[in-house]
Amino acid sequence: MLDAKVAQLLNIQVNKEFYSAYLYLDFSNYYAEEGLNGFANWYKIQAQEERDHALLFMQYLQNNGCKVTLDAIDKPDKELKSFADPLHAGFEHEQLVTGLIHTIYDAANQVKDFRTMQFLDWFVKEQGEEETNAEGLIKKFDLFGSDPRALYMLDNELGARVYSAPSLVL
Ligand code: FEO
Repeated sequence: MLDAKVAQLLNIQVNKEFYSAYLYLDFSNYYAEEGLNGFANWYKIQAQEERDHALLFMQYLQNNGCKVTLDAIDKPDKELKSFADPLHAGFEHEQLVTGLIHTIYDAANQVKDFRTMQFLDWFVKEQGEEETNAEGLIKKFDLFGSDPRALYMLDNELGARVYSAPSLVL
């Protein structure tokens, strides 16, 4: 069995990851309504990855004999008024999630729960990649977003993203 505080934080993270999926679906819907189907595709795939993260946290808890409690998922409440808004909100959200993962890591470290720390190592790396990707999108949009032809090409580029299952298997 895991330490009670660590297990609680891991269970909360299940909800946070499902919320991330919900948030990114909201972004995807926004872009779809605006006719930017490539951006919509990018965030829909991002949502699938977040769902995978939630399932990984669930599986890890179950593998360690812990009960999983599913709580209500908050409504996405970011105001999306311009094409750049989801990109900035997404980057801020990933920074927040990185902080949450680090908090769990810290709690596991305090009770010498090396197994959970090893499990979380994948997420620490993943968060680094996700922050880089989110920041990269902002940079690209800042460079090209105001030119319709360049925006069209960027939308095509993001439309080419395909889903792949997480490399972490439990
Ligand atoms: Fe599940 Fe984007 O972190």
